[in-house]
Amino acid sequence: MTENGARIVAGGALTRDGALLAARRTRPAGLAGRWELPGGKVEPGETPEEAVVRELREELGVEARVRDRIPGEWALGRGYVLQVWTVRLVSGRPRPLEDHDELRWLPPDRVDEVDWLELDRPAVAEVMRRLRAA
Ligand code: CDP
Repeated sequence: MTENGARIVAGGALTRDGALLAARRTRPAGLAGRWELPGGKVEPGETPEEAVVRELREELGVEARVRDRIPGEWALGRGYVLQVWTVRLVSGRPRPLEDHDELRWLPPDRVDEVDWLELDRPAVAEVMRRLRAA
């Protein structure tokens, strides 16, 4: 939970060779087909960092390590906020095992190629700014 008592949805910004991993959702119907940073709700007893690692393991079949937090948080409604961490791949190759049906590595000049979930956009823009500067 945040200081304000909001529950956290933790997203992971996985980058490789100057590109960010985008995942296309399959559920719920209202969000299916939209693209996001993979992640999910932090469970009781879990830190957001642990949740990111778990979600990437479940959803993509990879082992990842959290690097740092993208500043900011974005209200999802119903008492949830989205927070985003940059992560690096430790092992495995991402596959859409759960909740997604397509993955795409997007360099900064292709970031607008997919229809990002609204609340992911500021964090995605910040990751792209960092990739351009790297
Ligand atoms: O899988 P879990 O129920 O833990 O969480 P989720 O369905 O992946 O995420 C909960 C909600 O957070 C979704 O319905 C999305 O509205 C939102 N979300 C988002 O806006 N951006 C993300 N990168 C991940 C989730």
